[in-house]
Amino acid sequence: MELTVSFANKDVLFMFDSSVGELSRWSKKQQLVILTDENVLRHHAPVIDHYPHITIPPGESEKSWETIARLTERLIEMGADRNTLLVGMGGGAITDITGFLASTYMRGINFGFVPTTLLAMVDAAIGGKNGINVGLYKNMLGTIRQPELILYDYSLLKTLPEAEWSNAFAEVIKYACLFDKELFTELEQNSVDAYRENGAALAALIHRCVMRKNKVVLADEFERHERKLLNFGHTAGHALEKLYDLSHGQAVAIGMLIACRLSEKYAGLSPNVTKRVEHLLKIYQLPVEIRYDKAMMMNLIKSDKKSNNGKIAYILLNKIGKANIFEITIDMIAEVIVHNELS
Ligand SMILES: NC(=O)c1ccc[n+]([C@@H]2O[C@H](COP(=O)([O-])OP(=O)(O)OC[C@H]3O[C@@H](n4cnc5c(N)ncnc54)[C@H](O)[C@@H]3O)[C@@H](O)[C@H]2O)c1
Ligand SMILES: [Zn+2]
Repeated sequence: MELTVSFANKDVLFMFDSSVGELSRWSKKQQLVILTDENVLRHHAPVIDHYPHITIPPGESEKSWETIARLTERLIEMGADRNTLLVGMGGGAITDITGFLASTYMRGINFGFVPTTLLAMVDAAIGGKNGINVGLYKNMLGTIRQPELILYDYSLLKTLPEAEWSNAFAEVIKYACLFDKELFTELEQNSVDAYRENGAALAALIHRCVMRKNKVVLADEFERHERKLLNFGHTAGHALEKLYDLSHGQAVAIGMLIACRLSEKYAGLSPNVTKRVEHLLKIYQLPVEIRYDKAMMMNLIKSDKKSNNGKIAYILLNKIGKANIFEITIDMIAEVIVHNELS
């Protein structure tokens, strides 16, 4: 199923339930170069070998200036020009690098994504944000620029490691908390394995999450208001991710629980909802408690880029499916963090 979504400066073609082979539609007309990582290539070489490709090591550390410089030289060597389509085939690290590289190469060339992780399918590939890191500072350099196409080939997920499924479900649970009560109930009645074994349910879940994120991005592509809601769980989550050896999904899981507890206190959320969120995180093999250092956490939260004249714009839940941006003080946050301090 194909769908065109019109963003401010670009119509993006979403190709659901498609196959990597469909890329030949573009490769017939123009130079197409795939950018991928070693893991994706190892598992999916037959489809990738079909096209000219560049392979980089996997992981977050490749989202760097050095990689961009190296890849720029590779593109020059390959004769890539304004008419080249750069296709990022991989997880969120690859889609971010691809979007950034394509947005700056020759002042911008066209690009597309073939997301290969569930996280990239439901989140990273959508919305046009493309960032790279500078040292420990995540996504410090970036652009907001939409791809030409996002191609969904669900068969690519067959090789995805268990932990990556859970990671992605943290963001899926986030969408359910923020916007979708029905999805929340559906998730409660399922599990990672249930979705893995039921292709139709997985396809429907991915489609639903994509449309949720698209709706928010369409309303506020340049993140002035609504798009900020997508940071639910990410303020404390980012702090935890920096401090401890946690994956993004694990950190966001704990971050969402902290946000729920803040919501109980400042946004009238029923404590019963926090319990349901906790239960849901457990079903999807995400952590619900962790020992953290309160002082270090508070320092990082304070320096968060969303902080504004001593207040932090924190995303809180009123109920399942309804969230808002609340301006709260550091002291208000500290009061709740203290109750959950486990170390
Ligand atoms: N731009 C955005 O809006 C946005 C949103 C969310 C996340 N992100 C970014 O996305 C990144 C995280 O994404 P991710 O979790 O997909 O990480 P990732 O790209 O690092 O992929 C995770 C791991 O899975 C491997 N992998 C990918 N596809 C596979 C497959 N089909 N089979 C086997 N292994 C596979 C990768 O090699 C890697 O080791 C972060 O850098 C984050 O900042 C961006
Ligand atoms: Zn996230």
